[in-house]
Amino acid sequence: MSQRVALVTGGTGGIGTAICRELATAGYLVIAGYNSGGNHDKAKAWQDEQREAGYEIDVAYGDVSDAESAKQCVDGVVAKYGAVHCLVNNAGITRDSTFRKMTLEQWDQVMNANLRSVFNMTRLVINGMLEEKWGRVVNISSVNGQKGQFGQANYAAAKAGMHGFTKSLAQEVAAKGVTVNTVSPGYIMTSMVAAIGDDILEKIASTIPVGRLGKPEEIAYTVSFLASERAAFITGSNVAINGGQHMF
Ligand code: CAA
Ligand code: NAP
Repeated sequence: MSQRVALVTGGTGGIGTAICRELATAGYLVIAGYNSGGNHDKAKAWQDEQREAGYEIDVAYGDVSDAESAKQCVDGVVAKYGAVHCLVNNAGITRDSTFRKMTLEQWDQVMNANLRSVFNMTRLVINGMLEEKWGRVVNISSVNGQKGQFGQANYAAAKAGMHGFTKSLAQEVAAKGVTVNTVSPGYIMTSMVAAIGDDILEKIASTIPVGRLGKPEEIAYTVSFLASERAAFITGSNVAINGGQHMF
């Protein structure tokens, strides 16, 4: 069998980098999607870093919140590699604010980057997966989509929406060898979490039974398993990886 192709949105970010590396280790040909305001040099520098660390990973530009830009990204990948067998919808942003202060712009930015993006990207690859009778879609949600979070009405709504999407699409494609799953990380040390004020982060960390924040690799291991042959019977599930912060 020829090498399977994985596209990871937000692939050059904190969790995305770990996912790309794990999928490459598992034998996938991996493409990291990036946006970075169109800063291609930054993405190339990231690619060089991965190469130096022993990982050969391609990069593809696209703003996943924009349907046309998402299409150009996926079209480019399919033209170069023939197909996308595994899509990891990992791109995301926060625009935290208490609801009474939240602007429509903050709401829309988060809904578009975190949820509309999932529609934009998945619809471009799902038919190819159905034709191949094999595919993996993994959606990166959040513990805060499961429990809610002070200051994140927009983000929690988008992340909870991702799992509704997962469960619906999973039912539609299960009979054709395509699985769709959600992974819900807790607080993982990346630039997204580093943006939280120190005092607030300390308080949040104190609510994690394992006693520390998570590491990007601890998310990537599970994504890689869900993307594997062995996970063929897991679909429509939501895997919580949060150090015990939220159990249900
Ligand atoms: N619970 C209850 N009350 C709280 C509170 C909490 N957790 N945090 C603050 N408050 C209270 C304050 O005591 C204050 O009360 P008074 O008005 O009575 O003095 C009031 O709320 C402050 O309200 P403001 O609207 O002025 O809030 P702010 O501007 O100071 O801060 C915030 C709001 C920016 C959202 C800040 O609370 C914050 O950064 N919270 C962290 C949110 C968070 O966890 N983000 C996660 C980002 S990483 C990520 O998202 C990854 C992932 O998936 C896990
Ligand atoms: P990060 O380092 O900030 O990575 C986020 C990535 O998303 C960046 O690579 C960014 O790309 C990309 N992105 C954002 N908007 C985009 C857009 N419009 N188009 C294309 N790419 C876009 O943060 P992270 O912590 O690794 O987050 C990765 C995912 O995990 C997010 O969905 C986040 O919500 C989720 N998550 C994180 C945590 C955590 O604690 N860190 C917990 C739960 C869930 P550019 O930088 O190139 O713009």
